[in-house]
Amino acid sequence: MQKTDCYAVIGNPVRHSRSPRIHQLFAQQFGHAIDYQAVQLEQEELLSWVYGFFEAGGKGLNVTVPFKQQAFAFAQVRSDRALCAQAVNTLLRGKDGRLYGDTTDGVGLLRDLQRQGCSPEGRAVLLLGAGGAARSVLEPLIQARPGYLAIANRTVAKARELAEMMAHRCAVGVFSFEQLPECPQRWDLVINATSASLGHQVPDLPEHLWSSAGVAYDMVYAAEPTAFLRFAASCGVSKTIDGLGMLVEQAAESFFLWRGQRPSVEPVIASLRQEMNA
Ligand code: ATR
Repeated sequence: MQKTDCYAVIGNPVRHSRSPRIHQLFAQQFGHAIDYQAVQLEQEELLSWVYGFFEAGGKGLNVTVPFKQQAFAFAQVRSDRALCAQAVNTLLRGKDGRLYGDTTDGVGLLRDLQRQGCSPEGRAVLLLGAGGAARSVLEPLIQARPGYLAIANRTVAKARELAEMMAHRCAVGVFSFEQLPECPQRWDLVINATSASLGHQVPDLPEHLWSSAGVAYDMVYAAEPTAFLRFAASCGVSKTIDGLGMLVEQAAESFFLWRGQRPSVEPVIASLRQEMNA
């Protein structure tokens, strides 16, 4: 009998992760049976658990908060996008036996934006936040060739650090939240990569932030619109998008890295949305 391929998402906490459900739905599209678990780990056991998993024949791991930077540190081979993000959310063992680390968050965001007809190309794009989430999407955003890209963060020094890191690729503007009300620029796309939504908070933003056809994107998702998306709607923003599509798109890219097959994301997003609202 053929052995079922084993996968897992590791994090802490990880109980609420939707990754097991998403990957089961992907596998079903191809008529495959996979085993995909959510595994909560403590810091001390992380490395030995990961090596043990692959030693036992495990095929792939997703890594979530708070282990993405550690996974980056112990991956033996890192993709360019992982190097830029300094974080890894996907691990696999190569044919050479080495541990490969990649990050699919940024490409997940870009695919979701493209799917929704909101490509950043040629647009004025403002990225809110300068933590791990912002860092993970910066390189793919630059690759999408926005007309103007800027980062705003509560702690402006962190935004400056990220902009300087990317300076060899493109000029990235830097703002504090206090500067935004005075800034004459109107933004076509504002992406919230702060963790404020998780605490049901909104960064302190002016109402006139968006251009007339502006789009608001929150990397967080929830059954109800996030505080940021509600604020954007109250400012008259034409389109508001939450991070559910990004979640499924990043998972699809991991699935592709592990299994070489690209699942279709639309039905999975629709199923999850339905389950979230039930
Ligand atoms: P993550 O991995 O989710 O990005 P992180 O690295 O801790 O988490 O970064 C959190 C980001 O959200 C930071 O940009 C943080 O701003 P500071 O750098 O000033 O700390 C931002 N953030 C968190 N809560 C916020 C709030 N209430 N308003 C504005 N920004 C907030």
